[in-house]
Amino acid sequence: MKTAEIVKLSKRYIMNTYGERSIALVKGKGAYVWDADGKKYLDFLSGIAVNALGHCHPEIVEAVKKQVSTLIHVSNLYHIKQQAELAELLIKHSFKGKCFFCNSGAEANEAAIKLARKATEPGKSEIITMTGSFHGRTLATITATDNIKYQKGIEPLPGGFKRAVFNDIGSVKKCISDKTCAIMIEPVQGESGIYIAKKDFMIELRKLCDERKIFLIFDEIQCGLGRTGKLFAYEHYNIEPDMITLAKSLGSGLPIGALIAKDKTNSGFEPGDHASTFGGNPLCCAAALTTLKIILKNNFSQHAWKMGAYFKNKLEALKKKYSFIREIRGIGLMIGVELDFECKEIVEKCQKAGLLINCASDNVLRFLPPFIVSEKDIDKAVNILKFKLRRL
Ligand SMILES: Cc1ncc(COP(=O)(O)O)c(C=O)c1O
Repeated sequence: MKTAEIVKLSKRYIMNTYGERSIALVKGKGAYVWDADGKKYLDFLSGIAVNALGHCHPEIVEAVKKQVSTLIHVSNLYHIKQQAELAELLIKHSFKGKCFFCNSGAEANEAAIKLARKATEPGKSEIITMTGSFHGRTLATITATDNIKYQKGIEPLPGGFKRAVFNDIGSVKKCISDKTCAIMIEPVQGESGIYIAKKDFMIELRKLCDERKIFLIFDEIQCGLGRTGKLFAYEHYNIEPDMITLAKSLGSGLPIGALIAKDKTNSGFEPGDHASTFGGNPLCCAAALTTLKIILKNNFSQHAWKMGAYFKNKLEALKKKYSFIREIRGIGLMIGVELDFECKEIVEKCQKAGLLINCASDNVLRFLPPFIVSEKDIDKAVNILKFKLRRL
């Protein structure tokens, strides 16, 4: 099937939630993908931060093949070896606690919200989230998200959420009440345009949470597992959250989300309090376990840091040339280029030239390359971008 046929079929039978799309991808290898007409693209979006190891990494393919022919799914009525091993590895590299597995980022955040309310003191239920936040598309996580556009028309929204100004500790203090049970924050905001939480702010936040017996939840769904140059983004701040949520990169494309919670918190869940049919099944856990082992074995966090610095340098040079580039923001391989104008047209032009990127908010070009990216790949991406910017 060629692109035109796939687009036609898709438009006829798929709900129109994703708007206008023109590319149908059918094959991937490393940092590259091919569309149904055979056109090759350099993928600097990685399935929105999912394909951290690039496409079809041979060790992931092997692990999935092996698992798929052994045992795919059993439900959580039984113990699952791969799930227990994955949890052990995540805990070994974070903090003393336990994991819950689900199928997506939104579900991981839902689990965190439920656990925070279950584990807190009686009478507490409010969750504070930040301006510019994105936490998912379920009813609770869309309420936690700071985007009225996504909330319009689906009201009534669940209660118990408050919004504080990102990086403003005074604003957080004003939001806290006797009912506050948790503060949820992305250490690096992805969807709103790559904004990094400041170190002082995060340290103050931790102190405040300790003083007021509030759980601190880090949503590392987009920024976690090595993308920022550390395995977990919280490591940049010399503090620990009480809960971390993960998804995206964890399964190398197989759907898996995770909630990691410290021991004092995770005891809030008792049998029957939370569950998932598919969550943490042998297949997704085998993919996630292999992904995590590969990231650790190859020190991909460090590589992401190094490549991110190289990339940002090149982008800074572009900024000096083009006054319409307002700011280059980012950490590791999570980078945003803020423009003076809407970036949709540049994204489309880059696509045509064989580079996949997207817009985060209306005027920020977002780059989320896979961790396996090389200087040569970055040079190629920057050259395409430079050429498109020059011709504006
Ligand atoms: C920070 C953050 N949290 C939560 C989510 C929701 O994840 P999912 O789309 O897997 O439900 C996303 C997705 O973009 C995200 O970036």
